[in-house]
Amino acid sequence: MKRILICGANGLLGQRLALMLSSQTEYEVLHTSHHRSFVFDNRLLDYTQLDITRKSDVKSLVSSFHPDVIMNAAAATNVDWCETHREEAWKVNVVGVEHLIEAARKVGARLIHVSTDYVFDGKSGPYKEDDRPNPLSYYGKSKLAAENALRISDIPYAIVRTIVVYGAGINVKENFPLWVFNSLRAGKRIRCVEDQISNPTSVNDLAFAVLKIFELNKTGIYHVCGSERLSRYEFARRVAEVFELDPELIERARTSDLQQIAPRPMVTGFITLKAESELHLKPMDTRQGLTLMKRELHSTRKL
Ligand SMILES: NC(=O)c1ccc[n+]([C@@H]2O[C@H](COP(=O)([O-])OP(=O)(O)OC[C@H]3O[C@@H](n4cnc5c(N)ncnc54)[C@H](OP(=O)(O)O)[C@@H]3O)[C@@H](O)[C@H]2O)c1
Repeated sequence: MKRILICGANGLLGQRLALMLSSQTEYEVLHTSHHRSFVFDNRLLDYTQLDITRKSDVKSLVSSFHPDVIMNAAAATNVDWCETHREEAWKVNVVGVEHLIEAARKVGARLIHVSTDYVFDGKSGPYKEDDRPNPLSYYGKSKLAAENALRISDIPYAIVRTIVVYGAGINVKENFPLWVFNSLRAGKRIRCVEDQISNPTSVNDLAFAVLKIFELNKTGIYHVCGSERLSRYEFARRVAEVFELDPELIERARTSDLQQIAPRPMVTGFITLKAESELHLKPMDTRQGLTLMKRELHSTRKL
């Protein structure tokens, strides 16, 4: 039976991987994250606390579980926090990945790692897998450094780059559509930028791609994102439409109005032909992704 180790299993992607794998009986899955407790019932799904920044913990857990693959969904994902907490961000996003690489090498495991469009400068999106990265933010720099650590390692690896991931989960960080939904439902006015353009990604598509890479034994870089390129303003309007909330509460803004701490790449998006042809990914558009999220939100809130 193949063994899968998931790191960051309490996060949005980690939870989705756990749910998708829970219906498959041919794998033994160990879920880990840096919190003591798991968001799911750990009598049903195996869970162990693991902080990937702790080298000896990573080493001993990987040696004892002996996974065939490590799926790394753990990261410091708040872009503005990373800008002001550089040392901590580096520790999770780079040193943590180096620990996983070293541990994977010892047991002959593959590593599937997740990265971001923020490795690009946003001057010439949509990007292909072999386009030249040039991160603007510290978050982007740390994610690129982790990619480079994998590139120079001698272990089999895959990197899945993705963009503005959204979906429902238990106690997950407020992703963009969730913030829009919560604000509009409370009757709050919000400002959304019309000059940051990208392809938002349903967490279902992202998890699907990670699992396909594992099943098909793929290595290398894959770009995975939704099929629609739109601004944050347009995306927020789509949230209002799907969740039947008042779109008039959404105001147009420019990036320069918001004074976000970390610089953002303005126009990204990916060309996903490789993932579509090799992984059979059929990326959702935002109406499909948000409709699914609406259903999931309903069921997670009932849990
Ligand atoms: N979300 C996006 O819009 C987006 C866009 C592009 C790329 N990505 C990439 O996609 C991946 C998954 O993102 P996500 O949206 O699922 O993020 P998320 O919801 O923030 O989940 C990340 C998880 O990692 C855990 N974690 C943080 N530090 C850790 C450590 N030292 N050891 C173990 N676990 C740790 C977090 O735990 P706590 O919650 O307890 O801190 C959290 O459960 C990340 O690599 C991210 O960079 C995300």
